[in-house]
Amino acid sequence: MLMTEQLIQWLGTFGADEDGGVTRLLYTPSWKEAQEALAGKMEELGLAVRYDDAGNLCGRLQGTDGSGTCILTGSHVDTVQRGGKYDGAYGIVAGITALSRLREQYGMPRKTIEVVAFCEEEGSRFPYNYWGSTFMTGSATYKDVEQALDPQGVPLIQAMKQAGFGPGSHGQGPRSDVKAFVELHVEQGAILEQEGRSIGIVEQIVGLQRYTIRVQGEANHAGTTPMAYRRDAARAASAMIMAIMDRTEELGAPLVATVGQMELHPNTPNVIPGKATFTLDVRHPDGGRLEEACDSLLHMVRYEARKRGVDVSTERWMNVAPIGMDAGLTGMIEDICIDQGRSYRRMPSGAGHDAQIFASHCKTAMVFVPSRQGISHSPLEYTEPGHLEEGVQVLTELLRRLAY
Ligand code: GLV
Ligand code: MN
Ligand code: MN
Repeated sequence: MLMTEQLIQWLGTFGADEDGGVTRLLYTPSWKEAQEALAGKMEELGLAVRYDDAGNLCGRLQGTDGSGTCILTGSHVDTVQRGGKYDGAYGIVAGITALSRLREQYGMPRKTIEVVAFCEEEGSRFPYNYWGSTFMTGSATYKDVEQALDPQGVPLIQAMKQAGFGPGSHGQGPRSDVKAFVELHVEQGAILEQEGRSIGIVEQIVGLQRYTIRVQGEANHAGTTPMAYRRDAARAASAMIMAIMDRTEELGAPLVATVGQMELHPNTPNVIPGKATFTLDVRHPDGGRLEEACDSLLHMVRYEARKRGVDVSTERWMNVAPIGMDAGLTGMIEDICIDQGRSYRRMPSGAGHDAQIFASHCKTAMVFVPSRQGISHSPLEYTEPGHLEEGVQVLTELLRRLAY
């Protein structure tokens, strides 16, 4: 029988870092090797394999009902910088495992089922998230990513073409045949582990906004410029970040804000930084509260800029509303957990997922399995093989009930 844990270790060899983690950024050689290896694995297991023009990879188990519609499962193949082996990868290999078991046990389904390895979800190379699922659902077009450059200045469109994708490359643009999407994923938090449960049924995914904030001061000599005459972009950015964090704590949970990336220019010990650029990621399960919080945080940023005599510009490059999962599918998953005797709970997701994009296009559900100590986006990410297997069994049964 196909073992999910082995497939995760195998997929983790593509883009493996020395510290046990994985870095597989969109359209890079390790990303391409992983997609090609997955395509080979899908074919080996009897799935019909196809890429779309953005680089999403699908393996298909053709249904007999001739309806032209399909049930989709899977997750993203890209990772964050120095991420773990499970985020995204689990949903893909679990989908492959489920389809292969279903075919072996029950033959061809009535409704077509596909497993997808989305090309991109993390926004780790280019300032654009969910390129895979927004392309597939038609919520984004090439125009939306035209301006996206990686830190080396390479345009997303150019990287896509170099990797062998782009307009017309595979004759598959956005799709309207997907009628249901189910994503299996590691929790990336510690609730299931702390409560000793093995399955989380996601009811809602948080809303998320991301910004790039550019602070313009004045570069000058670190030794000859008295403190009172400085327009230090690093100092101003630090004050902004402190103000953002203090205000976020004042507004209170479940609001969270993260400054995860920061650059100084010219980034030299003896030059007062003339420029500082940082990202801001803000999340809340309530869309209105999220808007209010972002307004308030950006107000603090502008206030600090005035106070410190620097210029600031803010650019929002991601805005995804919180969204509920389909009640019918969620109920089916709960029935399956009861029938299979699993310890489960319903829960929200604080992490962003491709399911968030699909939920406004078709019936969508998400299932979590525990993450050890709640650690994710880290080489230390880990889920016990027994939990991986429980998630696969829930997914397999859900697909059986939906497609056979
Ligand atoms: C995706 O992993 C996110 O929640 O940032
Ligand atoms: Mn992630
Ligand atoms: Mn993920």
